[in-house]
Amino acid sequence: MIQEITGADLFKIEPIQPYSKDYNECIAQAQDDQKRDARPELKSYPDSLDEYDTIYLGYPNYWGTMPMPVFTFLEHFDLKGKTIYPFCTHEGSGMGRSEQDIRKLCPDATVEKGIAIHGTNVKQSQDVLKKWLKK
Ligand SMILES: Cc1cc2nc3c(=O)[nH]c(=O)nc-3n(C[C@H](O)[C@H](O)[C@H](O)COP(=O)(O)O)c2cc1C
Repeated sequence: MIQEITGADLFKIEPIQPYSKDYNECIAQAQDDQKRDARPELKSYPDSLDEYDTIYLGYPNYWGTMPMPVFTFLEHFDLKGKTIYPFCTHEGSGMGRSEQDIRKLCPDATVEKGIAIHGTNVKQSQDVLKKWLKK
């Protein structure tokens, strides 16, 4: 939706080893990755982010923050001088501590206040997103 509204380029962060499609297994794998502070390898990266000033960074809230593959992605780049707008889906924890974690990983970027969308409201979130983007 954000891509449609802004016309931004889109890149999907995907680990080489995907989390299980089984919910309970996925929960356990993601928790294990977080406890080990793992950096799961990604399938690919954009060649460069040099031409971008603004990054909308989206993820589901996993255990109170971003899934660890998003940590891998952020650490791969020097995001100095860029502005990051985080957005996430969640089931009650909102942004959790993800904004703090992004600030830690990207100390020279500006991390703006993000928007958290409840998983069940995703399909009806166009107006909320438009308002957030306008702000
Ligand atoms: C491994 C895992 C951990 C999760 N941890 C949280 C959490 O700490 N707080 C929360 O509000 N939702 C949590 N969720 C729910 C996800 O945020 C929710 O499923 C997602 O945002 C909705 O996207 P989906 O429809 O693609 O699953 C977790 C889900 C998974 C699979």
